[in-house]
Amino acid sequence: MAKKSKRPSTYLYPVPVILATCGIEKPNIITLAWVGTVCSEPPTVGIGVRPARYSHGLIEKTGEFVINIPGEDLLEVTDHCGQVSGRDVDKFAAFGLTPAPASVVKAPLIVECHVNMECKVVQKIPLGAHDLFLGEVVAVHIDEGVLDETGRRVDYGKAKPFVLTFGEYRGLGEAMGTYGYSVKQ
Ligand SMILES: Cc1cc2nc3c(=O)[nH]c(=O)nc-3n(C[C@H](O)[C@H](O)[C@H](O)COP(=O)(O)O)c2cc1C
Repeated sequence: MAKKSKRPSTYLYPVPVILATCGIEKPNIITLAWVGTVCSEPPTVGIGVRPARYSHGLIEKTGEFVINIPGEDLLEVTDHCGQVSGRDVDKFAAFGLTPAPASVVKAPLIVECHVNMECKVVQKIPLGAHDLFLGEVVAVHIDEGVLDETGRRVDYGKAKPFVLTFGEYRGLGEAMGTYGYSVKQ
């Protein structure tokens, strides 16, 4: 098949869509897709946030954020949280989301999200349009109802996270194999 060259851009789709909570007195929610795992020990994630975002200042000031993974039932709310700013709107009240106290950080968890990861900022790396905040994961909470039969892992068929492709949200579809299956007898 012939290949067409494109100007350099981020074609690394799909990417997960998450709701990050931040701030203490008046906590806020920001929808993020520039998100990834960057280290397993200590467990560390990275989020790319534009300095103009209201959330950027909150994360910078408090040195904390929580990654909340929405399921497909929260698709519209997740999109909406990414269209309005916490400068103008209390997104918890506006979109019917429930804040709950975290165990280590002061930013709240979103109850309606099945997976919540509390993070402490360990580094901020300015990259250009976005600053990369590296956050060490200091606590994790998972709804019991989305755990697999062993109770140890999230069953993503139940949690139903969704991803962003170039301009579309998509579900994950069916599992296609298990880790390492290609070398197992
Ligand atoms: C699906 C989706 C993904 C987004 N990903 C990012 C992102 O990775 N980084 C970012 O800075 N903004 C991202 N945004 C935009 C912010 O969510 C949006 O500007 C939001 O209104 C900022 O809220 P705040 O001003 O309350 O912080 C995304 C928006 C959507 C809908």
